[in-house]
Amino acid sequence: MDKDSLNNKKVIQLTQTVKGAGWASKLGPGDLYCALSDLPLIKDPNILVGMEKPDDAGVYKLTNDLAIIQTVDFFTPIVDDPFTFGQIAAANALSDVYAMGGTPITAMNLVCFPIGTMDIEILRTILKGGLKKLHEAGVALVGGHSVEDSELKYGLSVTGIINPEKIITNNGAITKDLLILTKPLGTGIINTAIKGEIASADSITKVINYMVSLNKTASDAMQEVGVNACTDITGFGLLGHAIKMVQDSNIGILFDTSLIPFFPEAQEYAKMGMVPAGTYRNREFGKEFIETISDISPYILDILFDPQTSGGLLISVSKDKADKLLYKLRAEGIEDAVIIGEVVDEPKGKIILR
Ligand code: CO
Ligand code: CO
Ligand code: CO
Repeated sequence: MDKDSLNNKKVIQLTQTVKGAGWASKLGPGDLYCALSDLPLIKDPNILVGMEKPDDAGVYKLTNDLAIIQTVDFFTPIVDDPFTFGQIAAANALSDVYAMGGTPITAMNLVCFPIGTMDIEILRTILKGGLKKLHEAGVALVGGHSVEDSELKYGLSVTGIINPEKIITNNGAITKDLLILTKPLGTGIINTAIKGEIASADSITKVINYMVSLNKTASDAMQEVGVNACTDITGFGLLGHAIKMVQDSNIGILFDTSLIPFFPEAQEYAKMGMVPAGTYRNREFGKEFIETISDISPYILDILFDPQTSGGLLISVSKDKADKLLYKLRAEGIEDAVIIGEVVDEPKGKIILR
């Protein structure tokens, strides 16, 4: 059965499999961190990036010029088409390796599947979508693990490699750096509108194109130019991830909200209340770090805190290299790449929204 016949037969709407389950979850930013906080972590000098300074992925040094990068990501369906869902989940799982400036090498499938109520062909189609992205990334699938679950979930664990000298962390930004964002915001809100069955076909197609696109090209460009810090925008939203760049540091970030790209539909749907629960959790978590110095509409704030699926990279690059990087990104087809703010001395550890 191919994906068209799956669609035509309306076998199942993946995003409606367990009504509301995806947005009812109460687990929020920092919960895993909290749960681990008093437990004795293993100390090892070869852990270059680990639980003590959480980043996009963990990095472990093997030799002086070789380290492995490890990351894992999986979630419930955000679109109804299984092949598309597979592609999005894989692009999203690979993204953390790209955000560190690494090269993904191998991956393993993670599957939770309601085998009693869902056709195995759906799983096969999801895995086929994932595999398509692994091929594009040049990553070998080397295994996986599956469990029966009432709610479908899919994702991958990904292992990459990097030279330990070349790790791009989320906390290397320097005063006067410029901040470049490579994909528009608003996928969380639009995905919520998809679940609520009000998203237009056009906006669905548009966000899917962004969610399936790998951050590989952007990562290659930033490695070539040389940058100070990077993170990918996912569950914590732009502001949540930006907070991680300045938390416990000597710097702050100033965003010019008029420059931040987002899908216009996201604002429309936010006005209709189609805001994922994660946005509120992100906003609650982030409020003590955010200062606004001009009037910013609550819908724009929803978008700035909107949890992204397979979002873009937020790159901190020195002023003299910013134009070169921007030119390179656009020449490589990342036309949405744009400067959205700068790194400032004061106030330290805060994000200012202008
Ligand atoms: Co990340
Ligand atoms: Co991740
Ligand atoms: Co196993």
